[in-house]
Amino acid sequence: MRVLGIETSCDETGIAIYDSRAGLLAHHLFSQKTHSDYGGVVPELASRDHVRKVLPMIEGVMNEAGLSSKEIDGIAYTAGPGLVGALMVGATVAQSLRFAWGCKAVAVHHMEGHLLAPMLEENKPAFPFVALLVSGGHSQLIKVTRLGEYEIMGESIDDAAGEAFDKTAKLLGLPYPGGPHLAKRAMHGNPERFAFPRPLLNKGLDFSFSGLKTAVANAIAKSILDEQTVNDIAASFEQAVIDTLIVKSLRALEMAQMKQLVIAGGVGANIKLRTSLSDLGEKQGFKVFYPRPLFCTDNGAMIAYAGCQRLLMGANEDLKINVRARWPMDELR
Ligand code: KG4
Ligand code: ZN
Repeated sequence: MRVLGIETSCDETGIAIYDSRAGLLAHHLFSQKTHSDYGGVVPELASRDHVRKVLPMIEGVMNEAGLSSKEIDGIAYTAGPGLVGALMVGATVAQSLRFAWGCKAVAVHHMEGHLLAPMLEENKPAFPFVALLVSGGHSQLIKVTRLGEYEIMGESIDDAAGEAFDKTAKLLGLPYPGGPHLAKRAMHGNPERFAFPRPLLNKGLDFSFSGLKTAVANAIAKSILDEQTVNDIAASFEQAVIDTLIVKSLRALEMAQMKQLVIAGGVGANIKLRTSLSDLGEKQGFKVFYPRPLFCTDNGAMIAYAGCQRLLMGANEDLKINVRARWPMDELR
């Protein structure tokens, strides 16, 4: 089964071809720059950039893989959750091509794409496992029994982890998207200089990050923001998020009685989070799996992979264009 994957849910155009026997054949990614002046993603600009990029990028991956349209068995596209206009671009192109090429099509849930991204790596988990999904829009702990069987064990009651990184970075005057910039500054900072809160740490599996952002705003108001202070606030903030994610992940593993943890989504690219969890896993006897950092953030490879698994199970969409801004993951089967 050879699948073309199309990701256009936010500000990244990701196109890839995955082959169920040979693996990933090609993947291209375009990260939109058009939003940097606005400090956040402007939906209309995102849609327009996807319109410009999608077809040339599809041509690019097809050429790189040396494939003709006859050799594609199915097209997988992100159908939600995300920005509706941006999703519509990918869905419309996917359905038009599937009609023209006479192949199958499958609508993919963006977070299922993230969740399965570690399967693209050599060191991959086997079902069942617990997944910590931490992106710009979601923070969730999910018990994954098998493909399509997802139980949300806990989630953020306010800001997502990535959103907290982005908002805090903005308060510190760092460029958008803030997460990676903040993480870089944190490398040169003292994580113990500011005692930021770890909300809900001792309680259950839900997360709350909005109070943390307020605590950072208060610290900024009381400080002179020189280079070192920015680095120290960044490091102290990052440590507070990581401590919370770690405690909740360990609790989820214990409650699910599992020994495999998958980290996925944009915040999963955070080096300190990755190394801290891997070290703990070695000490405490559980295994940690991640996608390579490039496949933590949005990409077409994860959509091609997830779509391929669903096509192999018999999925095939009607020739309709349906996208969803919101799409609870436990509605997936
Ligand atoms: O998964 P993703 O690309 O998009 C969504 O599905 O939301 O995640 C993007 C998020 C952004 O909030 C970004 O700041 C964050 O992931 N992020 C990071 C890092 N790289 C990306 N956060 C912390 N450390 C990083 N290295
Ligand atoms: Zn994403």
